[in-house]
Amino acid sequence: MTTQRTFPDDFVWGSATAAYQIEGAADEGGRGPSIWDTFSRTPGKTLNGDTGDVADDHYHRWAEDVEHIANLGLDAYRLSISWPRVQPGGSGEFNEEGIAFYRTLVAALAGKGVKPVVTLYHWDLPQELEDAGGWVNRDTAYLFAEYARRMARELGDTVDVWTTLNEPWCSAYLGYASGVHAPGRTDGADALAAVHHLNLAHGLAVQAIRAELGPQAKASITLNLHVTRADDPSSEADLAAVRKIDAVANEAFLGPILEGAYPEDLLANTAHVTDWAFVQDGDLDEIRQPLDVLGVNYYSTGRVRHFSGEGERQQADGHADSDASPWVGITDVEFLPQPGPHTAMGWNIEPQGMTDLLVSLHERFPHQPLMVTENGAAFADEVSPDGAVHDPLRVSYLHDHIDAVGEARDAGADVRGYFAWSLLDNFEWSYGYERRFGIIRVDYDTLERTWKDSAHWYRRLAATSVLPD
Ligand code: NOJ
Repeated sequence: MTTQRTFPDDFVWGSATAAYQIEGAADEGGRGPSIWDTFSRTPGKTLNGDTGDVADDHYHRWAEDVEHIANLGLDAYRLSISWPRVQPGGSGEFNEEGIAFYRTLVAALAGKGVKPVVTLYHWDLPQELEDAGGWVNRDTAYLFAEYARRMARELGDTVDVWTTLNEPWCSAYLGYASGVHAPGRTDGADALAAVHHLNLAHGLAVQAIRAELGPQAKASITLNLHVTRADDPSSEADLAAVRKIDAVANEAFLGPILEGAYPEDLLANTAHVTDWAFVQDGDLDEIRQPLDVLGVNYYSTGRVRHFSGEGERQQADGHADSDASPWVGITDVEFLPQPGPHTAMGWNIEPQGMTDLLVSLHERFPHQPLMVTENGAAFADEVSPDGAVHDPLRVSYLHDHIDAVGEARDAGADVRGYFAWSLLDNFEWSYGYERRFGIIRVDYDTLERTWKDSAHWYRRLAATSVLPD
């Protein structure tokens, strides 16, 4: 028996990108330097020394890219604004040329019937702000809210959903603890201060957007919540290990943002790292703001067990290697390699994790609409002699994860849409251009775009809302 899964007509089919990963034009149009310019231009920080200087040259080719989005028949497109492109130093003067770029882009999308979902911060902090302490400095949160308010004023009538931050977990822990992302710092206490200031930035920005546009403005944040399995589910010690990871990875954001509190075990587990004095009176009220939608990015799962202290601790957590751990304050947990299949990132493919995550969010926050703002896979695609890119592994990854979203919906989760990561092959952070996530291939010599089989497949899905077997 064939079982086709059908999604409702109003289910949103989209695809996503981020400014630094696709725009290029790093020194053009009045754009200021960001922490990713500095980091990627520092020898040894990215694979092959790749930078976002040119990337997909989207800054010049945006019109062609909008055509691709329209031809794919997408309902929505998730893009990010480069803060240093619109406000080069992160405070003070705004750059009209940068603002005009995004105004034109969102208008072109809207003109094609594509809803712009706009992320205000996808990791490219203005370098000047990092020089003043970056996310460890509380002022950054207030400056972010000012920037958010200005963008709301400039683009407000055209943007469908405003997303404050993308994956603050990465900004805080990979940026300030393990140092594999910009700005490349390795101080656990700083990372936790960054967590709090990112949360504060989010809350202040949501308020600023609503103050500017009124309560009907749709506000969201996108989190990369970690789905962590116990190596031995009957072991109390392994289950405790899962809870520790959960606190630092997930509760550090969900707690304040949706419940207005940092969980006690997070504070206790990290007490030897910091006293959390950076949390000031009233902050938690600022942070907890109703969200029109919670964005969820999901790729794979992790497996942990209690580490007794004997032998070498395994750290197969799917993040780029570093001597410093992103798991601030935790020394008695080890991450074990997950069984395959794996993507080219080395991440295990486990669609069930998507269902589990969405269902657990729904059970905990039953009235919170959800949106899968990223899901996708990197594979070593090849161009066939006929010029096509056959990427059956990506098609099957997308299929199985969209099916998993359907399962979560069947179980009651209010999931409103799905965004494939990514529209285009692009700069995959510390992995540079060596990892291709696009449903559209980019030839980095000619910058030519070629639809992969997955793009054709996704176009049919977006047109019919029927997921074939
Ligand atoms: C999450 C990030 O938001 C995005 O920038 C990145 O490229 C993908 N995941 C894949 O790692």
